[in-house]
Amino acid sequence: MSGSDGTSQWWRTAVMYQVYPRSFADGNGDGTGDLLGLRARLPYLADLGVDGLWISPWFPSPMADGGYDVSDFRGIHPMFGTLDDADAVLKEARDLGLRIIIDLVPNHTSDQHPWFVAALESDPGSPERARYFFRDGRGSDGSEPPNNWISAFGGPAWSRVTDADGRPGQWYLHLFAPEQADLDWTNTSVLEDFDDVLRFWFDRGVDGLRIDAAPAMAKRGGLPDADYGGVLQFRTVDWDGNPHWDVDEVHDIFRRWRAIADSYDGDRAFVAEAIVNTPERLVRYVRPDEMHTAFNFPYLKGPWEAESLRRIIDATLASFDPVGVSSTWVLTSHDETRPVTRYGRATTSSFFVADGQGEESDLALGTRRARAAALLMLALPGGAYIYQGEELGLPKVDDLPDEVLQDPMFLRSGGVMRGRDGCRVPMPWSGSAPPFGFSPRGVQTWLPQPESWSELTVEAESADEGSMLSLYRSALRLRRTTKGLYAAGLAWRESPSGVLDFDRGTALRCVVNLGPEPVEVPAADVVLCSAPVVGGLLPVDAAAWLLLPSR
Ligand code: GLC
Repeated sequence: MSGSDGTSQWWRTAVMYQVYPRSFADGNGDGTGDLLGLRARLPYLADLGVDGLWISPWFPSPMADGGYDVSDFRGIHPMFGTLDDADAVLKEARDLGLRIIIDLVPNHTSDQHPWFVAALESDPGSPERARYFFRDGRGSDGSEPPNNWISAFGGPAWSRVTDADGRPGQWYLHLFAPEQADLDWTNTSVLEDFDDVLRFWFDRGVDGLRIDAAPAMAKRGGLPDADYGGVLQFRTVDWDGNPHWDVDEVHDIFRRWRAIADSYDGDRAFVAEAIVNTPERLVRYVRPDEMHTAFNFPYLKGPWEAESLRRIIDATLASFDPVGVSSTWVLTSHDETRPVTRYGRATTSSFFVADGQGEESDLALGTRRARAAALLMLALPGGAYIYQGEELGLPKVDDLPDEVLQDPMFLRSGGVMRGRDGCRVPMPWSGSAPPFGFSPRGVQTWLPQPESWSELTVEAESADEGSMLSLYRSALRLRRTTKGLYAAGLAWRESPSGVLDFDRGTALRCVVNLGPEPVEVPAADVVLCSAPVVGGLLPVDAAAWLLLPSR
């Protein structure tokens, strides 16, 4: 599609595939994914039919939070390869017609970042410390944190440093793990250095950047105590006036960045990771001079329930359409429970932290629903995100042994929260036993894969027309080839309770049955379905795409 400014504005309709590099494909045989492995699998992604990739952080990092603790924003983690390998990924992806966005993590740096190391070696009040939030503690001996803020991963958001003489010193702020020190975005040297980081990657040819934890980047002046109410919980929604999340000044940063993106030819795009209180607050991130698009968290978190989904879809369109920004639709990520697991539970909605852990899941039911959810997501107007392994219907691995878990959420909660490792288990590519072609035979992958994944490999599913992979391939192909689909809006049809039924202009009709009974559909018009339509009936927990009879 061509925008009014002569650019393609590809982000408006693109289906992006999230690569978590550590778990995608291992090219050098050490049990961990890398860029050599990713390069070798790019043709798989082109063949799948996605428009591009979002690559989770590939920068040097001590991996205290799976790479979201960056120690050099202009490099590549040696475990993943080199800058030359990254250039090769960018070039080979481009040759295959795939866009690439990378994941910028600007709210914090690793505690191993040279800036933080220098800050620790410098005195209170020094320019080195001014890049972060170093403050004296409260109480007569400074032994209390400077304020009451808590970390998203549990515990206080402040840690105290030890001075060179061995005595306790100042405290520094970390809204996530202690190894992720928050930057002070009112500091000019931080702003200027990141201008350069953006240019560094745009110059290398990335098509865009995902902005991690965007609402965290500004803090209320004076760092006042937060009023958490009764329960001491890190909340990003249902809370007006949070002093450490979605503070208005954050938008000044994105305006500055937009000017940089616009100074490049070609269309570079930002996507906001912004979980905020209301659609009105979210739309502020995608104003014409800020980011281009934003992840749709309400949709990701929504339950498998027709009325709620319809409400979320309508609210999304109602908030994005008037500002001329296209919506995105997403079911999962490296932070979330995988759809086949979530939809097979009694609680089908998702929330970042505890996330139904321990709740039994009926994976056959979850898989049926996840198939239908895929057709719903890919029929909606706008762009979409697919997280690696979603196209295979991988479940979350709930029984990883404690000793392999690496998520700071697990470690910081003393094991109370099991964390996100279960949705980061390496991809199964081929063969009948671990490592399933992820690594060479005999190599132990960094997180163990379940034996039961032998039926969920790319190889096995490619040979099976009824597999999740075949469904995704067909849906993505149809999405590309159905004329008029991208430009069309969404119009609901009247439908029985529990059924979502809508037209996309005259291009496509989508029916999703979340009700208790099969529903009638005109079988002759069905071009794709998540479960067989027999006798004109679409089963429960199934979806169908239909070509409209007028065509
Ligand atoms: C985002 C990332 C998550 C990470 C956090 C801190 O939410 O998606 O994986 O832990 O930011 O960087």
